[in-house]
Amino acid sequence: MTRLESFDGSAWPPPLVPSEQARATEALEAGQILYFPALAFTIEPEERRFLADGWSAAVKNISFDPARGTLGGTKAEGEDAAGLTRLMSRYAQASQKLIEAVIPNYRGQIEMARTSFRPVEIAGRTSSPRHDDTKLHVDAFPSRPTAGRRILRVFSNIDPNGQARQWRVGAPFASTARQFYQRLPRPVPGSALAHAMLGLTKGRRRDYDHYMLKLHDAMKRDVSYQQDSGVEAIAFPAGSSWIVFTDQVAHAATAGRHALEQTFHLDPVQMKHPERSPLRVLEDLAGRRLA
Ligand code: SIN
Ligand code: FE
Repeated sequence: MTRLESFDGSAWPPPLVPSEQARATEALEAGQILYFPALAFTIEPEERRFLADGWSAAVKNISFDPARGTLGGTKAEGEDAAGLTRLMSRYAQASQKLIEAVIPNYRGQIEMARTSFRPVEIAGRTSSPRHDDTKLHVDAFPSRPTAGRRILRVFSNIDPNGQARQWRVGAPFASTARQFYQRLPRPVPGSALAHAMLGLTKGRRRDYDHYMLKLHDAMKRDVSYQQDSGVEAIAFPAGSSWIVFTDQVAHAATAGRHALEQTFHLDPVQMKHPERSPLRVLEDLAGRRLA
């Protein structure tokens, strides 16, 4: 069984009919990846120069904060920085339109977070074990606690040379959470407040964030879990786009370059099935509220 739920159409956003929107909502919340094989995000002729080497000042990403209009992780300056800002801001807006067209229930509920441009080839890239995204993991970020809000991401492969982006996708969240929960260290009372006071986190880290970070780390460290034969390999071709809850779907990116990604947050109460959110799954395991 594949973890991809596919949708036709190359117009952005694709004009989905209500039955397709219902199929998309059910699939996404069940931990499927909404896959648009022919939905390309168009790079304008004057933007093609950003697909050359040398713009990135960071190991992985050039990032953009749509709320502030600021760029990070790039050597681009002046006109180039302005052009990169336009490209990434266009992607942020297009991603929002895409989600609203595909899942109208989330309209007005999703909160736009960072945009990222990932020009660097993943294969052979070096990173610390914790930052190694070639290992299966669910997303959780130490400096950005979500307090239980979902991490919903739109990706587009914009590789000009036609290279696919290679992912591996693991078992559903509930079974993975059950598999790991007993070995996750319990939160230390007071440490969240200390993190916030030291300025280490943007907002207070809840017990939910604690468990998600520990789960993320434990998954990446577990050699036998990483080799699990239940994993599905997926190649997202150049010119395709996909939508996925990366806090729920265990994923690893093993090869590819030139992707755009837009993050949104969503309060689980806005889901059709809030009980499928990582927050509710972990709360069931903990037997108490975590956020
Ligand atoms: C990740 O979220 O782990 C990486 C996904 C990607 O860059 O394709
Ligand atoms: Fe990730």
